[in-house]
Amino acid sequence: MVVVAGARPNFMKVAPILKVLETRSECFPPVLVHTGQHYDHEMSATFFRDLALQEPHHYLGIGSGTHAEQVARAMLALEPVLEAERPEWVVVVGDVNSTVAAAFTAVKMGIPTAHIEAGLRSYDRRMPEELNRVATDSICDLLLTPSEDADANLRREGIPAERIVRVGNVMIDSIVAHLPAARALRAWEGEGCGERRYVLITLHRPSNVDAIEKLTQIIDALCEVARDIPVLFPAHPRTAERLQLIRGHHRSKRLRIVRPMGYLAFLSVLSGARVVLTDSGGVQEESSFLGIPCLTFRENTERPVTIERGTSRLIGTDARRIVPSIQESLQQELTGPRPIPLWDGHAADRIVASLLRVRDDFKRGM
Ligand code: UD1
Ligand code: UDP
Repeated sequence: MVVVAGARPNFMKVAPILKVLETRSECFPPVLVHTGQHYDHEMSATFFRDLALQEPHHYLGIGSGTHAEQVARAMLALEPVLEAERPEWVVVVGDVNSTVAAAFTAVKMGIPTAHIEAGLRSYDRRMPEELNRVATDSICDLLLTPSEDADANLRREGIPAERIVRVGNVMIDSIVAHLPAARALRAWEGEGCGERRYVLITLHRPSNVDAIEKLTQIIDALCEVARDIPVLFPAHPRTAERLQLIRGHHRSKRLRIVRPMGYLAFLSVLSGARVVLTDSGGVQEESSFLGIPCLTFRENTERPVTIERGTSRLIGTDARRIVPSIQESLQQELTGPRPIPLWDGHAADRIVASLLRVRDDFKRGM
């Protein structure tokens, strides 16, 4: 089986799957392909170390570029790899450009292809990820979903029930495996913060950070929050690039803008935070699982279960909402996590079981 990863949110999704595949004697050893969409040490290599991931067998080095450039480069580089490997499955995860590129390449070559985290929909086609999700799901042979809403979305799109299997959330497998080590790190101390005495921020959606005016309003709001409580902001490279253009943005010593963190350090500071403000998909899920209040700085989410059963609250994308939303959250008591069905640390077992079952069905010509 070929498993494809390319960007930061992919690595903690493929790690548990690779681990299970390596222990199953009825599969060939998995082949990991890294497209190279993310390439900085702190966006890629550090996750291989923290998640004890094997070195990729193939590194495609596609790098940054326009959407068309990234997708095209990934397809061109992946095709000969798949030609040589001729795997029984290609497994793609998430919703980044590498995901749709790999799915399209594999499906066009007639290789059975499975999408992990299928069926999520924000119903906002201005989001590049929404196009990637819809396109990937429409062509993959097997759609492995994290939650009930995802199954319903796929059924509404006319996808036959036999292509859909609910397996749960594989990101949670990584948290379950690594939380004790992450907690033991107490990484908030290294950032000069006390446990439950800081707000954690991650923002990287183009719609929030690309326009300097908008980003300046956000930073102004965070400086105001920092008067009450320290704010820790590990900045994605897209965001960091724009922040350099905002002169004097370090107006508050208690707003700490730092480099992107490795998986364990980030999980540590997330688990110790009082509240998190984010536009990340994964962080909404992780904070829900950990019971950390999450203010989602977006108009919509493809992960409604984090609102219905988790800790996330959509606050929109008006920077004026930041200060009152955080203040309100700081006044509320912490309630802790509520279990979400199939977010239990065993999604990778169910994923591999589904891949093997469907492979055997294909072999029997069903
Ligand atoms: C991508 C995904 C997004 C995901 C995010 C996770 C797409 C369309 N977007 O967005 O869904 O939420 O990853 O982090 O696939 N850069 C670096 N170093 C790196 C990588 C990127 O400096 O290692 C900079 C480059 O200037 C690049 C910019 O970040 O142009 C954006 O990178 P890109 O991969 O195009 O999109 P992301 O914003 O990271
Ligand atoms: N993450 C990390 N370091 C950081 C910020 C995020 O390790 O500085 C992890 C986080 O725990 C989550 C994943 O990156 O598992 C989410 O990726 P990101 O927010 O980049 O993408 P999205 O989920 O929005 O696609």
